[in-house]
Amino acid sequence: MAASETPGTEVVLEGLTRHYGTVHALDGLDLRIEPGEMVALLGPSGCGKTTALRILAGLETTDSGRVWVGGKDITEVPANKRDMGMVFQAYSLFPHMTVLDNVAFGLKMRGVGAHERANRAAEVLDLVGLGTQRARYAHQLSGGQQQRVALARALAIEPQVLLLDEPLSALDAKVRAQLREEIRRVQLEVGRTTVFVTHDQEEALAIADRVGVMSSGKLEQIATPEELYNAPRTQFVAEFVGLTNRIDAISDGATAQILGNTVPLLEGSVGRGPGVALVRPEALVLTPDPAGNATVVSHSFLGSLSRVVCVFDGGRPVTAQSPSAASTGLVPGTRVAVTVAPAPVLVVPA
Ligand SMILES: Nc1ncnc2c1ncn2[C@@H]1O[C@H](COP(=O)(O)OP(=O)(O)OP(=O)(O)O)[C@@H](O)[C@H]1O
Ligand SMILES: [Mg+2]
Repeated sequence: MAASETPGTEVVLEGLTRHYGTVHALDGLDLRIEPGEMVALLGPSGCGKTTALRILAGLETTDSGRVWVGGKDITEVPANKRDMGMVFQAYSLFPHMTVLDNVAFGLKMRGVGAHERANRAAEVLDLVGLGTQRARYAHQLSGGQQQRVALARALAIEPQVLLLDEPLSALDAKVRAQLREEIRRVQLEVGRTTVFVTHDQEEALAIADRVGVMSSGKLEQIATPEELYNAPRTQFVAEFVGLTNRIDAISDGATAQILGNTVPLLEGSVGRGPGVALVRPEALVLTPDPAGNATVVSHSFLGSLSRVVCVFDGGRPVTAQSPSAASTGLVPGTRVAVTVAPAPVLVVPA
């Protein structure tokens, strides 16, 4: 199962469209995934994430467009002839089988002998940290453990491509964060090309090599987590990925005047003239100042960070975030001067 034995495979989705009646579930989806890469597909409910995954798995047909895996056009290949492992949102383990038999099931279907499949299933269960639970049944496991079994079952067949459709959505926040680290560790260890679907932006940014943001059946932007967060190319991406403040700005086509500072424009911004800058909370700087332009209305301690909401004298609220140590004095009622850090911003039409 070493990455060197089974290097990942390139996956290409080209112009996928899928209609259900009048609904355009997919509307020209293009996506290229590098061998061994993990791409997270992120987007609101109904934007076509599951449809894209099901078409890639062969569980759904596409109206037009092609699916390529490892340079081969597999658009017409049936699901059982595609070498893919899938984990669904609701972990559907077989209730009458032990953990080990659940994991070995796909190998049995592929004609692997009893001894070998027991060995391989045990090996994958060790990989996901469930080596000691192999004799249990699904109802004897926690949600997080069941989800690991589902992951082990998908990995056991050593698929070329691993498809994960919101595999953590049924779990509470702490288990969720733990298991997502574990999925990433396992994915890097086995080197599988992986598509991870989620509508949780933090999860997508934390786990993937690249994150593709989908909207209405199309990809809005695909980039590394850092680039997506720091240089969103559309208003949709900026607002979907992280909190944003809307602040009046004047653009000269290359820079913008915002709260008295000049900052560079991101690609995708408006041309010359007035607009609205989409500014991250951590790019706002609050300085106590009786002659400032805003008043603090709330202060939330989040641990190492604190979030401070202020209202401009004109009445518009903004949210700033900074290390807690730097914002201790910013209690409600404090007058502050709000300025922006010199990071590039997206300026959209007002
Ligand atoms: N079998 C179907 N019949 C009719 N409409 C469907 C079918 N499958 C999907 N749709 C519609 O296609 C659109 C995309 O659905 P899809 O399940 O791909 O969304 P999603 O991004 O996975 O959403 P979620 O985050 O809620 O899981 C939705 O409007 C959905 O109602
Ligand atoms: Mg879905």
